[in-house]
Amino acid sequence: MENKREIGLIVARSENNVIGKGGRIPWDIEGELSQFKELTMGNAVVMGRRTYEEIGHPLPGRRIIVVSGSSKYEGDNICTVRSVEQAIKAAAGVNVYFAGGYGIYRDALPLVDVMYITEIHTVIEDGDAFFPEFDAGDFEVTIGETCGDEIKYTRTVYRRKKLF
Ligand SMILES: NC(=O)c1ccc[n+]([C@@H]2O[C@H](COP(=O)([O-])OP(=O)(O)OC[C@H]3O[C@@H](n4cnc5c(N)ncnc54)[C@H](OP(=O)(O)O)[C@@H]3O)[C@@H](O)[C@H]2O)c1
Repeated sequence: MENKREIGLIVARSENNVIGKGGRIPWDIEGELSQFKELTMGNAVVMGRRTYEEIGHPLPGRRIIVVSGSSKYEGDNICTVRSVEQAIKAAAGVNVYFAGGYGIYRDALPLVDVMYITEIHTVIEDGDAFFPEFDAGDFEVTIGETCGDEIKYTRTVYRRKKLF
């Protein structure tokens, strides 16, 4: 039987649910992005316009799908759509990972099978981008390893419970 492709989201959030501050990710932790690379390589990554502009270039080995109503990025491995639903269609055939920011996570949350949430063990004051509220009861939660030196982080996986 053909494997179903995975529709997921990947986020790192602080203890007070912050994902961004001043247009940037408010921590820089060696090794924290390794999971992002492993999951997304060869697959599609969906991001909002501001997150894409912060990165500033396509990511090697991945198809980038930017969600925007105001800008258009087109190229060999990048395209622009207007909604998360269109992004899933544009990613036909490969796993698709939503990578923020807030509006992308908010609209993708009801559609994803799995959420890779890295819990960063820090509190960020004056954050201005947050991960949306969701019902954790809809998901089976697996708590993975804790890593890091000065700032620790814990990998968690939220897999949507099957309804039957
Ligand atoms: N911690 C993490 O894992 C993580 C991950 C990603 C980003 N971040 C941080 O989050 C912040 C950026 O997030 P943000 O929420 O401010 O901006 P964003 O989602 O990256 O970009 C916002 C723009 O994207 C488009 N957009 C977003 N959601 C949409 C939707 N559902 N439907 C249609 N268009 C949509 C709109 O573009 P137009 O205005 O062009 O219409 C919107 O103005 C930064 O600080 C970044 O570093 C953190």
